[in-house]
Amino acid sequence: MKMSASLEKAFNAQITLEFEASLTYRQLAIEVDDMDLPGMAAWLRHQADEEIVHANKFIDHLSDRGNHAAIGSIAAPKVKGGSVQAVFEAALAHEQKVSESIRELYRSAEKEGDLDSRPLLSWFLSEQVEEESTVDEILGRIKLIDNDGPGLLRLDDEMATRPVATTENTSGPA
Ligand code: FEO
Repeated sequence: MKMSASLEKAFNAQITLEFEASLTYRQLAIEVDDMDLPGMAAWLRHQADEEIVHANKFIDHLSDRGNHAAIGSIAAPKVKGGSVQAVFEAALAHEQKVSESIRELYRSAEKEGDLDSRPLLSWFLSEQVEEESTVDEILGRIKLIDNDGPGLLRLDDEMATRPVATTENTSGPA
């Protein structure tokens, strides 16, 4: 069933935010690459791709419902490099912003009794818990390392092993 115009607008804002998240992660990847940490850079690039998958899930959902997806304007990522800790703090802050936006979308859908979007939004609520937890754990380990070179290089090696992502929407509710 087609969703209301106001819900469509809220979904489109979420699509734009997911693309913004992708650009933010892409910029953060550049920052750590400049610090000669290619494993972390690869991890952040994969995360940038995953955000495109998220946007595609919302786009597919609107399309399946007979609604129209439209990407809004996106400002340049406001990201300061400087330290590995600052990079992952920026990543966590952005994830928290996305999580709150998904919660708000869920609340709006519930208010309208839009049951058809519930599986997708529930999937995203769980996904956000996972994403925040993953970034928070990396940040915690970076704090433990406390700028110790060998420690950073070990974490960098570990993060290089993340499986290669695709930008296709292939898992979870679409
Ligand atoms: Fe699509 Fe990392 O939130």
